[in-house]
This record gives sequence, structure tokens and C-alpha cells, in this order.
Amino acid sequence: MTATPETRLARQRGMGPRAPRHFLDIDRFEPAQLREMLDLARAYKRGEDSPGGQRPGAGKMLALVFEKPSTRTRVSFEVGMAQMGGRVTILESQGSQIGRGESIADTARVLSRYVDAIVFRTLAEASLLEMAEYASVPVINGLTDKSHPCQIMADIMTFEEIQGPINGRTVAWLGDGNNVVASWIHGAAPFGYALKIATPKGFAPDPAVVKAARDAGADITLTEDPTEGVAGAACVVTDTWASMGTNGGPTLEERIRALTPYRVDESLMDKAAGDAIFMHCLPANRDNEVSAGVIDGPRSAVWDEAENRLHVQKGILHWCLRP
Ligand code: CP
Ligand code: NVA
Repeated sequence: MTATPETRLARQRGMGPRAPRHFLDIDRFEPAQLREMLDLARAYKRGEDSPGGQRPGAGKMLALVFEKPSTRTRVSFEVGMAQMGGRVTILESQGSQIGRGESIADTARVLSRYVDAIVFRTLAEASLLEMAEYASVPVINGLTDKSHPCQIMADIMTFEEIQGPINGRTVAWLGDGNNVVASWIHGAAPFGYALKIATPKGFAPDPAVVKAARDAGADITLTEDPTEGVAGAACVVTDTWASMGTNGGPTLEERIRALTPYRVDESLMDKAAGDAIFMHCLPANRDNEVSAGVIDGPRSAVWDEAENRLHVQKGILHWCLRP
């Protein structure tokens, strides 16, 4: 069918009937779609190279675009794409024309002429949405100031490997109400877990994100009491107290002063469920948000969690690239 100028424009802007399958945030998907991505991830992890008889990454090219540093996201997407039979090209804002002010819309339209999908780690969520609007290939959120969905898909996969189905279980978040907990909030309704978030005053997650999740049926408890936060939790999660690109707001010293009571140490882990595991997206600071005894101890799942970024992102790439 010949595309009219309008349908061509709509498709170029990531809209219309043949819009690309973006992966922007967990709360944009039906539970069955998220489950399908996790099933694909598990198949890849088992060593299958063509789940469902398909190899949608074969011969494909992925662009990884970074406005902030990365170790795991960069390497896991690069390795994953190679294992799927494809290749990647990496752009950092410094060293590309993005750093000199070329618009994200123009970058999206140009990259779409060269590659089959784009992973974007950006300082501002608005830039991710602009990339998705103007790209005619799938765009995957590689972390923004507002969310980190690939990470939480890997975390849910890790939880289920160790603790069984996450539906009906309790996950506790301690510390800063940042981009990573936002994706945990997004996942609470579709995956059916209860989420308890313990933060000091002034560090709570975005109320609009919490409200939207509750409206979708999520069971979310907000507290300033770390002990109440971890009670009954099958998994305790924390993250850095100072995210990348955190400009303005509290200084590092103010953050450390406010957040120290939320540090995950052995005594706090002992107040969670007896078999509770610990997760952290990494990189971690053993002087701040977690003790060495916890992150390097028997309840820590952080290395499985980091490994699962690879498998889950292959599931997500498969889902996005599949015809
Ligand atoms: N957890 C995570 O996204 O790590 P990187 O910043 O190293 O990609
Ligand atoms: N909240 C952290 C996560 C890093 C993977 C940050 O945004 O820096």
C-alpha cells in the first residue's frame, strides 16, 4: 500500500497504524505484553537463540545513544545485540552533533535511516519522548531522569528466579525517591506486587506517578519509617543517594544527612521477611546507601540482577524488532 504524505509523516513521527514498537515505560504495557518479554528473556537465558522460531535481531543494527555515563546498559545491549546476530553503533552526546545542539527530532529522523532500533539514555524524559515521536524505528528507554524500565524488568526477572511469582509479594524501596523507584511504581499494578517506599521528607517519589499507579490498581505504601518500610518485604531495594544529573535541590551533604537512616545494613535486612533478598541496580556506594555486609553478603542478588539486564533486554529487543 502506498503511504499518503500524512501516513508517512505519522509513521515518521512514531504514530499511526504502523508506528514502531517503542519500549518507553512499564506502565504503557498490558501485563500480558510484559510477561511475553520476560518469557522471551528466560528463553534467551536458557540458551535458545530463536525463541518462537524467530531471530528478529539477526542482521539488524542498534544505535545506543548516551547523554550520561553507563557500564551495564552499554555493555549488556552491545553483547545482547551481538548474541542476537546484530550489531550496535554507539553515540555519546560529546563526540556527536547532539553535544553541539542538533535537535533530538533531527537526530531521530537521521538515525532511523541507518539503524533498526535506538536505545536512548537521556538527561530529560522530554528528549526520550521527542526521540520516540520522530523515530520511525523502535526507541528503548535506557534511563531518563524519570524512569529506568529495563532495570526493573531485570529486577522482576531476578526476583522471580529466587522468590517465585512476584504477584502478591511485597517489595521495599529505601532511600531516594528517584527514577529507579518510579519504574518499580510503574510495575506494581501490571505485575501485582505491593510496594512499600520509605524515604525522608523531601525525597518522596513524584506524587503524580504514585497517584497514576494507584488509579491503575497498584498497592503502594509511602512511609518515612525505614523499619515499617521493610516489614514483610521479600525483597529490599535501594539505589544511589545522588543520581546522575541531579543538579539543584539538596547538596550531597544534605542528602547524606537526610538519607543515612535509610541505609540498608544487616540490622535493617533482619527486619524484612526471613528470606528477603537485596537488590541494587548498581553502581553502589558501600559508604552510603548499602553496607558491604549486605551487598556482598548471602542475601544479595545484585550480580544475578546485573546479568539479567542482558537477558531481559534481549527479550525487549526481540519484542520491539519482531515483524
Ligand atoms: N544499572 C545501570 O543502568 O547501570 P549503568 O549506569 O552502568 O548502565
Ligand atoms: N538512579 C541512578 C541509576 C543509575 C543506573 C541514576 O540515575 O544515576
